[in-house]
Amino acid sequence: RVLRGRPRDLAGRKIVVSAGGTREAIDPVRYIGNRSSGLQGYALARTAVARGAEVTLVAANVSLPDPAGAKVVRVESAADLREAVLAATPGADVVVMAAAVADFRPETRHDTKIKKTDGEPAPIHLTKNPDILAELGALRRAARTSPAEAPSAPRPSVTGAVRGTTPQPVGALPGDGGPAGNGGGSGGQAAVRDGDLSGGPASARSDAASAGSVADAAPAARVPEASAPRPPYPQVIVGFAAETHDVLANGQAKLARKGCDLLVVNQVGEGLAFGTPGNAATVLVADGEPVEVPYAPKEDVADVVWDLVAARLA
Ligand code: CTP
Ligand code: CA
Repeated sequence: RVLRGRPRDLAGRKIVVSAGGTREAIDPVRYIGNRSSGLQGYALARTAVARGAEVTLVAANVSLPDPAGAKVVRVESAADLREAVLAATPGADVVVMAAAVADFRPETRHDTKIKKTDGEPAPIHLTKNPDILAELGALRRAARTSPAEAPSAPRPSVTGAVRGTTPQPVGALPGDGGPAGNGGGSGGQAAVRDGDLSGGPASARSDAASAGSVADAAPAARVPEASAPRPPYPQVIVGFAAETHDVLANGQAKLARKGCDLLVVNQVGEGLAFGTPGNAATVLVADGEPVEVPYAPKEDVADVVWDLVAARLA
């Protein structure tokens, strides 16, 4: 499906999106997993492609067709996902962690299937997984603090040329044309129609696909100049979170803890059943006012995220 009517304000931008939920193996046939359809992450990937971005989609256990125009890397565990995201990050402008990453994994993975005839079930000891989002934030913080030591990340531009190698302060990509206009759902007034906002592992996501329109995209924005150097860390880092209570306070604390720029938070739990076609989100902004997103399809939520991302990149 090709999306219509979007600005090409992410043209020339390299974007990494993670989606789905990781699985942590217990034995060859069993795992501990996170509920996630991947729909929100896929909607993010689709809309970013429609807005002109070069998208790498790291998909954990998602049974959805590959979004046209995106490079899809399939992974299973949190460790796989971390590896794929970190491999795609150098030279990326934006990383969006929409995946539900398991916080814990079994300490040991049995090589053979655990049989019930083995006696009483043994407890499964868990160990913590690395926090990928926090790692990205820390990576950026470190690179900003000592930019001289950080290697630059040249990459081919959309015209095939290679960017320069001089480290460069964040938010100062010379030659950026800026947004060509605002896409649907700008101003945070778009609505959300789905429970698939959360990146939180405990979250379940509803799977109703949003209706999308078909046709060609809006005219291209001016793409970043080929000679523009870029920093080796993403300029914009976006997280997702599901919270059951004290949504804003917990979300703000999480945003700060993870060192990301935007955190898309949705309330889960009481009265907000998983699997319902509707949901609402609040996009917390590191240095700005939160943006409320009332009920809307996931693609609209994605567009609100990209509006905010494009503004930060400009
Ligand atoms: N995340 C991650 N690596 C992890 C866990 C989470 O990158 N090991 C990312 C998710 O992809 C999401 C964000 O962090 O974008 C928030 O996830 P969430 O589970 O809400 O945060 P946690 O720090 O794990 O806190 P909680 O105790 O609420 O689960
Ligand atoms: Ca978690």
